[in-house]
Amino acid sequence: MKEEKEISESRRNFLMKFSLGLGGFAAVLAGVPIIGALVQPLIHKKKQTWRAVGKLSDFALGETKLVKFKNAESGDWAGVSANSAAWVRHDVNGKFICFSANCTHLGCPVRWEKDAELFMCPCHGGVYYQDGTVAAGPPPKSLAQYSIRVKNGNVEVKTAPIPLTKITA
Ligand code: FES
Repeated sequence: MKEEKEISESRRNFLMKFSLGLGGFAAVLAGVPIIGALVQPLIHKKKQTWRAVGKLSDFALGETKLVKFKNAESGDWAGVSANSAAWVRHDVNGKFICFSANCTHLGCPVRWEKDAELFMCPCHGGVYYQDGTVAAGPPPKSLAQYSIRVKNGNVEVKTAPIPLTKITA
């Protein structure tokens, strides 16, 4: 009788330790992706790549033109979602400025209205002056800018994930 009780207790202990071990193992398995998702943005440096968006001669002085390019971090799997756009201005002094095409409110694509000299957002009526600062509507801040350069006769934009602030060279 005593022996049966000892065996039963020993089995109970074993099952309890086994359950705890299994529970701990499951917690570790579930925790790895969560910890990875929390730590990954801290250690992952955002990729930036210079992309040619046209020849210097494609940009007339004083013109603001829509350019399209592939995002810096797009993989082969990304398809059309890898495509991005920006507004490039070649001002009358020969300087280039590149504005993000995404509204700083909720990210809708803005368009340049040449006659009004304003960027307009169709989603909630956001309006930006020609220098990208907010003129009206809900956008909380100016249009973001990409770095831009002329190299070997090509105009190049430093692409990055959709910028929320100005990207420095
Ligand atoms: S997304 Fe542009 S105003 Fe809302």
